[in-house]
Amino acid sequence: MLKIGVLISGGGTNLQAIIDNCENGKIDGEVVCVISSSKLAYGLTRAKRHNIPAYAVRKKDFETPCEAEREMLSILEKHGAEIAVTAGFLSVLSPEFIRNFPGRVINIHPSLIPSFCGKGFYGLKVHEAALETGVKITGATVHFADEGCDTGPIILQKAVEVKPGDTAEVLQKRVMEEAEHVILPKAIQMIAKGEI
Ligand code: GRF
Repeated sequence: MLKIGVLISGGGTNLQAIIDNCENGKIDGEVVCVISSSKLAYGLTRAKRHNIPAYAVRKKDFETPCEAEREMLSILEKHGAEIAVTAGFLSVLSPEFIRNFPGRVINIHPSLIPSFCGKGFYGLKVHEAALETGVKITGATVHFADEGCDTGPIILQKAVEVKPGDTAEVLQKRVMEEAEHVILPKAIQMIAKGEI
């Protein structure tokens, strides 16, 4: 059973998809801990509802970002996490953090990388940019996190149609439901089965 640590900052719908797929057997794994960069993240409530140890680690509570990351790493180690999944996690992880989890940090991004990604492209901003550009197809990407922002080897992608009249909120919901919540659990199961 793959031990999964999940890092969040907000609503946690991707976390919920991982939990649900672990519980219904589509992921041979279990979420062993959830770490949020915000105390207010609804994802913490989702974790507690499933009796998953949940922690808020805020950079502002520490002298340096490095100390905050050290706290995150110690939580992941305490729970024996074998992979760390950043799912709606808005804090940038340092190269040192990634090096502590070589090839075992994966990220979900709500676009077809290399479009609409990198610094400043997060949450609704990604979908606003897609609408502004007028793309007819967008989607989501799961990739291994490396020391860059939304870079690293791509694991899975799934395309989603942009429909006339879409608002950023409507498009975000469609990308989440039709792409993110499908390919993130799928990618985790590939790791659980040793396929990647
Ligand atoms: C999602 O679109 C995710 O891809 C992005 O943040 C959004 C919030 O995700 N990184 P969640 O509902 O907190 O999982």
